Amino acid sequence: MNQQLFEQVDQYIGNLLGDEDEALKDAIKAIDVAGIPQISVSANQGKFLQVLARLINAKKILEVGTLGGYSTIWMARALPVGGKLITLEIDQAHADVALQNFKNAGVENKIELRLGPAIDTLPVLLHENAGPFDMIFIDADKPPYPEYFELALQLSRPGTLIIADNVIREGKVLDDNHPDDKVQGVHRLNKMLSGNDKVTATIIQTVGAKEHDGMVIAVVN
Ligand code: SAH
Ligand code: DHB
Ligand code: MG
Repeated sequence: MNQQLFEQVDQYIGNLLGDEDEALKDAIKAIDVAGIPQISVSANQGKFLQVLARLINAKKILEVGTLGGYSTIWMARALPVGGKLITLEIDQAHADVALQNFKNAGVENKIELRLGPAIDTLPVLLHENAGPFDMIFIDADKPPYPEYFELALQLSRPGTLIIADNVIREGKVLDDNHPDDKVQGVHRLNKMLSGNDKVTATIIQTVGAKEHDGMVIAVVN
């Protein structure tokens, strides 16, 4: 693999178009200081999510898996005045860091963080009639990705954009019997999307600062 070249090109793109400001850099530092794993999206992937949110004029965004709120901040910045983002996180320590990062970035008023397992908090959103969302970013634990996608569909309308991170995992999805339950989870989602008439979907491979991976990009029919 040309990992070094991919990283250099990612740098090149980021230098030209990344727009990673001090608040986003601070967020990464705060994640580091808290000893939380550096598994946020890359800067250019954050910008990509922001571009998509702007493209569809998203006013209501749902994120599954907050970590330190890095991707959350990128997307929240695409929201118009009065726009809203709900982000779901299971881990109190991650949530604490994220809430601080939202304040530091000045986006705390646009974001609502809900603590708990997404398999419980997603149905709560359904019961509250919190949907439909314009954009849903799935990026929490990988084994239940198909179940998260199913719930995301129920929180959608025709035209909702659903994105799922980490669905290629350095090509490990090519192995139908891969022992890693994360790989199995994303592979189950990818197969579920095949011939699925509820969405128009593709997967883009991603390379760069992070390992070779991919994102599902699906529009609800
Ligand atoms: N979207 C973030 C990265 C998320 S990492 C970014 O790119 O900046 C995945 C997050 O999902 C972690 O914070 C983890 O604690 C959380 N998570 C794991 N299992 C979960 C579950 N069952 N419900 C909700 N969140 C979960
Ligand atoms: C993992 C999770 C992520 O969301 C990510 O972007 C990279 C890795 C993980 O759990 O391994
Ligand atoms: Mg991810």
